[in-house]
Amino acid sequence: MNEVLRTILERRSIRSYKPDTVAKEDIETVLQAALHAPSGAGAEPWHLTVITRLDVIERFDARARAAMAESGVERVEALGKSPQYRVFFGAPVVILICGEKVLRKPGRHLSALADCCAAIQNMTLAAASIGLGSCWIGLVRYLFEREPSFMAPEGYEALFALALGHPGEAPEARSRRREGTIVWVE
Ligand SMILES: Cc1cc2nc3c(=O)[nH]c(=O)nc-3n(C[C@H](O)[C@H](O)[C@H](O)COP(=O)(O)O)c2cc1C
Repeated sequence: MNEVLRTILERRSIRSYKPDTVAKEDIETVLQAALHAPSGAGAEPWHLTVITRLDVIERFDARARAAMAESGVERVEALGKSPQYRVFFGAPVVILICGEKVLRKPGRHLSALADCCAAIQNMTLAAASIGLGSCWIGLVRYLFEREPSFMAPEGYEALFALALGHPGEAPEARSRRREGTIVWVE
């Protein structure tokens, strides 16, 4: 099996991180992968904010937990209120992914979310390929629902975050459900 396929099949979400800082060139490698994601009509409608300041990450985490705790969704509220839970699992790097606002450019309104997701997936794979761990964080949406422009540049809305760092755990590759997911027309 080639290395790309091995990385795809073995990548796991990492929810425990060593406190060690991540070399800037490794973060740059991960960012470069994001910028090479497929993008509808070549719009590249993403904006990435790389946060390595631990006090900023901690404030971001606390605000996301506070929004989760008031979400009205039982399971999410319980997580947000749990004293042990950290949205970014103590990762030393958090990347905020923002997408160009819908309808800002005619014909591009459907692509920002899809393109940003492709960019995030590229980052998770690039990170895994150089021995870093990452976790795609969607639960920040409870904060972004309240504050769509949270840390976003003008014209963009906050969509997701990615926790990134040296892994503090090594979960096994996992098999996936296949039944009912693939149909061949041949
Ligand atoms: C859109 C999206 C949002 C996610 N949000 C979270 C999150 O907020 N917190 C978390 O711990 N994992 C989150 N994940 C990671 C998934 O839980 C994880 O990918 C899934 O359980 C499969 O496990 P694996 O990534 O280890 O293969 C998210 C994944 C995606 C694609």
